[in-house]
Amino acid sequence: MTAERATPAIRKKKTSSVALKLLMAVTGILLVLFLFAHMAGNLKIFVGAESFDHYAHWLRDLGAPALPHEWFLWIQRGGLTVAVLGHMFAAAVLARRARRARPVRYAHRAKVQGSYAARTMRWGGVIIVLFVIFHILDLTTGTVNPVGDHEHPYANVVADFAPGRWYVTLFYALAIVAVGFHLRHGIFSAARTLGQQGRRGERIARAVALVLSTVLVAGYLSVPFAVLTGLVK
Ligand code: HEM
Repeated sequence: MTAERATPAIRKKKTSSVALKLLMAVTGILLVLFLFAHMAGNLKIFVGAESFDHYAHWLRDLGAPALPHEWFLWIQRGGLTVAVLGHMFAAAVLARRARRARPVRYAHRAKVQGSYAARTMRWGGVIIVLFVIFHILDLTTGTVNPVGDHEHPYANVVADFAPGRWYVTLFYALAIVAVGFHLRHGIFSAARTLGQQGRRGERIARAVALVLSTVLVAGYLSVPFAVLTGLVK
């Protein structure tokens, strides 16, 4: 009788944990899609100022004439905000449940407990959020950018990573590496949530996660380093 009563409660909690993991995976995938699209757009800087600025202006009129000026950007901003909040909410609830399931901390926490990426998910996430806030003040509103000209994003980026502002480049580089680690573990976890099973599947998911996060980090880092070395000026 007791066991019968306990079953629905346990099942309910388990189902919602799966739903939360699914929420993490789906919001994570949306954010990864944005990250790749944004990285590809950034690489236009190697084509030249005109191409890069044209691309930024085109983004503002994407969907025209069906969508009025900047609507696409606002829809994207809304979608990204909901995805980030959903991702953080699911992460916080799942972490709390995991702590409750094991209220006593491990006396000897094994040194090699999961990969480095797995152990830094929470702080990696915090660094990324802080970076995005700085990044918006820097390259969207132009508040902390030396040029800060909404019409000329190429000039903003070049001014941003000038050698004298090495600390900005360093902050960007650290944040991008944090994104890389976060993504490596995130893609692997999402694959597991979405049904990847078995040793072979796990090996493939690990390799795909490593390749995708390395490509992303290299693509993003190439821009500040190209400016720093004078390749883009
Ligand atoms: C060196 C690397 C990066 C460069 C050069 C760069 C460049 C830019 C530029 C120029 C804009 C403004 C576009 C415009 O004028 O409309 C922008 C916006 C943005 N970037 Fe980046 N970005 C970089 C890395 C990142 C990373 C790693 C993230 C996320 C973790 C990110 C997230 C965003 C977001 C959310 C926006 C706001 C888009 C909006 O205005 O709605 N960026 N970026």
